[in-house]
Order: sequence, then structure tokens, then C-alpha cells
Amino acid sequence: MKWNDNIIDSLDWGKDIARRAEKEKVANRIAAMVEDNMTLGVGSGSTSYLALVKIAERVKQERLKIRAITTSLEIAMACARLEIPTAGLESGRPDWTFDGADEIDPNKHLIKGRGGAMFKEKLLINASPKTFILADHSKMVKRLGENFPVPVEVFPQALTYVANALQQELRPRCIKLRMAEGKDGPLITENGNLILDVWFDYIPAGTERAIKQITGVIESGLFMGYDIEVFLNS
Ligand code: A5P
Repeated sequence: MKWNDNIIDSLDWGKDIARRAEKEKVANRIAAMVEDNMTLGVGSGSTSYLALVKIAERVKQERLKIRAITTSLEIAMACARLEIPTAGLESGRPDWTFDGADEIDPNKHLIKGRGGAMFKEKLLINASPKTFILADHSKMVKRLGENFPVPVEVFPQALTYVANALQQELRPRCIKLRMAEGKDGPLITENGNLILDVWFDYIPAGTERAIKQITGVIESGLFMGYDIEVFLNS
């Protein structure tokens, strides 16, 4: 039974979406791949959101039955508004997953997590037989770390330990605790953790694993060597 007034219905992306036209083209491309009875892994960020909107249009027009496994509250709420049913990984694997990225290098290594959702994004990408990364040209870089830091989600009590270990072991240019917008103090992730934004001049092979090995690290936004296909509008 539906709510008479549902606050979710008044939600939109909420911010201006940069390079919207370019993102909508790749969104259309991924929406065209959806088939009846599919379970989709849905990434986070504005590009994934636009793709979800396009998918919802097809679902409505063609009366498709699909389910989404979401990577963030923002996308779960968008699914509720767009009337796309959601499920958890316990009910099965996605047929495929789509997601955005902050940076993509020539080897298809990624930085993700501007939106703070990298833990569940990595979970979905690992759980999915196939992942499509939707990008606009601003995301393509020669070297990872050009424009974005590597976000590292950290168990709160381990904050100083992890920051020290990152500095000693990986020698980044700088490490910043991500601060909240709309709340005083640090940003708290959906999993109740903190985020360290780690700026590197150079990210060698093995960095993702080295970060993950530090006790207190939940996950990083570095994706090196994943089996992904990049959809770039050209
Ligand atoms: C969310 O945590 C991120 O990994 C996003 O997928 C990434 O920041 C891309 O976002 P946009 O599609 O908004 O650029």
C-alpha cells in the first residue's frame, strides 16, 4: 500500500549535474540493454542516477519486470521514487552492474568514491559477472590521481592508526579527513565510518592491496585490474 505523502517523491538528484547531455547519452545506451526479468546492480553518483531514470522510462513503457541491487541510500531512494523494486545480494547475483567513475586510466584502472559509496560499489562489482562503467570525457586521465584523491573508508576508532600507516607505507602527497556538508564535523558514511581522501603523485600496481591490508581500512575507492567495460560517449 502506498503512502499518502511520501517525502521520497519530492526528491530529485538535488544538484546540477555536470556534463548532463553527455551522461544522458551513455545512460540511454545502458538502458537499451535491459531485458525483462533482469536483476541489475546499480552504482551511485549522477551518471548512475541518470541511467536509472532512463531504465525506469523503459520499465514503465514496456511493462518490464526488473529488480535493482543498490549501492547507496541515494540510489535506493531513487528506485523507490521511480518504482523499481530493490533486492539484496542474499536474494541472488545481478545479471550485470553499471556504475560511474571519477577517473579512468588507459589500463581501465579506476578511482571511485567521490560520493562515498565505494564499499558497496566494490561489493557489487565483485559480485557481478559483468560491469559497465559509464563515463564522460572528463573522467579519462593519463595517470590515476590527477584530479581526485583515493578515498579510503576507515573504521572510526582506527582513524589515526590508518592515517599514520598510509603515510608511512605509501608516502602519499597528502591525506585529508573528508568533512561533511550539511553537518558539522567529519562525513559519516552509510556504514558508520569515516573517509580519508588520499592524494597520490603516483599510484603503482599493488596500491589497492596495500591499502586494504591496513587494519581498520574497510575499503578504498581504487579499482585496479577489474573486469569492466567502459562506456564512453563519443
Ligand atoms: C560514488 O561513490 C562514486 O563512485 C560515483 O560513481 C562517481 O563519483 C561518479 O559520480 P558521477 O557520475 O556523479 O560523476
